[in-house]
Amino acid sequence: MAEEIIIEATAGKEAKYQLLLPQIEALITDEPNLIANMANIAAALKEVFNFFWIGFYLVEEDTLVLGPFQGPVACTRINQGKGVCGMAWIDRRAILVPNVDEFPGHIACSSGSKSEIVVPGINSDGKVIFVLDVDSDKLDDFDENDRIYLEKVVELLA
Ligand code: SME
Repeated sequence: MAEEIIIEATAGKEAKYQLLLPQIEALITDEPNLIANMANIAAALKEVFNFFWIGFYLVEEDTLVLGPFQGPVACTRINQGKGVCGMAWIDRRAILVPNVDEFPGHIACSSGSKSEIVVPGINSDGKVIFVLDVDSDKLDDFDENDRIYLEKVVELLA
């Protein structure tokens, strides 16, 4: 079946999230494979918002390992507690970074990344199983709406 994301190009950011969420849900509902769903979600977010980098890191023992993503090549492994991703894993909450240069221990996979939001995926057992990492090439590019809607996207997966 042909998959297509249909979003009004002139819609505002929140409206785009509201239009995108049910389409993502429809896209992943009948697919049991987490990696396949992560790949489609990364592609959908890139297509609609054109963020600089969008991707997933999956928990493997005490390390985050790079999963499906869209954007420049990236670091493949992040230790627990390191970087924004490692901190979101430990804190079990979304972390919004207006300026990556001001985040202690930020891991710069690309010099083009200026602001970032990371959302942990927590399964029904309460275990963090992945993080969604979204980078922008603009400072302070993420707000509370991004956190709210990206958490909804992550909930669909976790
Ligand atoms: N900036 C992240 C590392 C992942 S790259 O941005 C894709 C961090 O500090 O955890």
